[in-house]
Amino acid sequence: MKPIVIPGITQLHNYHRMISNTQRLGFVPTMGFLHSGHLSLVERSVRENAHTIVSIFVNPSQFGPTEDLATYPRDLEKDLALLSKFDNIAVFTPTAQEIYPPNYRTWVTVSELSEQYCGASRPGHFRGVATVVCKLLNLVVPKIMYMGEKDFQQCFILEQMLRDLNIPVLLQRCPIVREFDGLALSSRNTYLSPSEHERALCLHKSLITAKEMAANGENDINKIKAKMIDIINKEQGNIDYIAFINETTFQPESALTAHTRILLAVKIGTTRLIDNMKI
Ligand code: PAF
Repeated sequence: MKPIVIPGITQLHNYHRMISNTQRLGFVPTMGFLHSGHLSLVERSVRENAHTIVSIFVNPSQFGPTEDLATYPRDLEKDLALLSKFDNIAVFTPTAQEIYPPNYRTWVTVSELSEQYCGASRPGHFRGVATVVCKLLNLVVPKIMYMGEKDFQQCFILEQMLRDLNIPVLLQRCPIVREFDGLALSSRNTYLSPSEHERALCLHKSLITAKEMAANGENDINKIKAKMIDIINKEQGNIDYIAFINETTFQPESALTAHTRILLAVKIGTTRLIDNMKI
């Protein structure tokens, strides 16, 4: 059965009236063009909550002026078909006009964290993400929100926002879902030609190699990083950053610890891909 579609804020308020407010509501924010990664979040929410709302909204404010807002892949009919196997879900599909009416002026900025790594190469991106997620949470009013760890920096920033703004919602991080060949699932993978897809495997390969080196006793971050760069250069990947961070503080690490996570962003052709792994 096709899920209920909630096309705007009035209909969302009606939906709230329909479901009892004593029942747990789970939320999965997305920009649509759903893949198995998104579906794993929906599946978990459906399992853990009486009701689930999935939002599909390609948020203009998180795209830079030269980024792919106009060409970002969209297929609402396919998304609804994919979601039709789940019970007790509704799909919120607001318009950009309703989320950002004329004269819109309020922005949520999580300072410092938003300027590093992906934020450094995508100025304003995390301000757009934090603002839209804050607004969606105020509208949907869930108990819990499900997000994939592929966007590790996004998860960390949004957790900070939830704490700082006293938003009573739990962010449940969920594991990265990968293709059989290791490529982390992303709606942007559709931009890759078959040969670029092959080359893009270098992100996962470099992370796996780093993990193996660490497991074999290598503790020198520079040596591990050099090996990763080597693997990515062989596939003509254009490295934006490779960062070794403490996953509990988001601070850079100078040596491996029990909390080290490697984050990376690499361009394959014109497609910018991200991935990460705990070491
Ligand atoms: O991760 C995404 O798809 C987006 O950044 C999100 C969280 C749906 C906000 O637009």
